[in-house]
Amino acid sequence: MIKFALIKLLLMDDKIFQEKIDKDRKIEPKDWMPEKYRSHLIRQISQHAHSEIIGMQPEGQWISRAPSLRSKMILLAKVQDEAGHGLYLYSACETLGISRDQLISQLHSGAAKYSSIFNYPTLSWADMGAIGWLVDGAAIVNQVSLQRTSYGPYSRGMIKICKEESFHQRQGYEIMAELAKGTKEQKDMAQDALNRFWWPSIMMFGPHDADSPRSGNAMKWKIKRQTNDELRQSFIDKTVGQAEVIGLKIPDPDLKWNEKRGHYDFGEIDWEEFWNVVNGNGPCNKERLDHHINAHQEGEWVREAARAYANKQIKN
Ligand code: 3HC
Repeated sequence: MIKFALIKLLLMDDKIFQEKIDKDRKIEPKDWMPEKYRSHLIRQISQHAHSEIIGMQPEGQWISRAPSLRSKMILLAKVQDEAGHGLYLYSACETLGISRDQLISQLHSGAAKYSSIFNYPTLSWADMGAIGWLVDGAAIVNQVSLQRTSYGPYSRGMIKICKEESFHQRQGYEIMAELAKGTKEQKDMAQDALNRFWWPSIMMFGPHDADSPRSGNAMKWKIKRQTNDELRQSFIDKTVGQAEVIGLKIPDPDLKWNEKRGHYDFGEIDWEEFWNVVNGNGPCNKERLDHHINAHQEGEWVREAARAYANKQIKN
């Protein structure tokens, strides 16, 4: 009898929860939520946070090699922003009942992922332009949509992050525009960066909707407000014209405006490459994770000092 009453109660909770979601009410940390909603959010927000932090590496490598003081200052500011974005997202994730230590150990053990895009090498200064323009451009499309996510702390973090993301995209596009109107070598450098980063950037939106195991619940619980393919299409539609304006060619022979659809048709994504990189076999996966593990271990003394200081404050 008690078991039946418990199941009935749980079903009621699920029903009330879904009604809140359907009415676009934000779910807050202290609200009741289905365990699957909580674990889905921990997964997505933690991977988003890991992406922000790991994403500092490919750009950080070029701070000391920036071609001018102005470009060094801009890149430095951008990389620092990404660290802040990671902290917002880790803090949002912790409101779901997981600790920072658990999140970091999931990253180090490979149990948690980060965006595949950051497993590609940055070979020239033009790559700083391609990352800002394309990677942050794709992130903006995704994150503007996530501002309306159903989980309160994630949504509020996104609103703050989106404000900074548009500066990231503009500074990247400015680098590409400068190079594209420079010498032949500079224009070739920009085109080479576009050739290498275009397809990995559109892979950031994840598998096609039909092959996306998480999208069903993500859309039902309004964690996602648009699907992977909708966001990918929106990014492509926005970006093609930007490439044309600066005289660069997107490396997709099948890219063509489709009047009937009102969107660009584009070629097939290499999903074998995508899953290869997601599953740890990309060009830089090992380098990125080793670097993070080393930095984390070397930073233990800072965490110890901060803990000692905090404990002293509590005792006083
Ligand atoms: N890289 C790595 N893993 C990816 C991926 C990618 N590009 N695309 C999908 N995946 C993973 C998913 O995490 C999921 O793995 P899991 O089941 O082990 O958790 C699996 O592939 C199946 O994909 P789904 O589409 O079913 O998963 P989601 O519904 O979670 O959609 C997503 C994937 C669109 C990336 C979604 O998780 C999302 O919107 N995440 C938040 C945004 C984000 O993480 N962006 C990453 C870049 S952040 C960034 O660019 C910072 C900027 O400042 C530069």
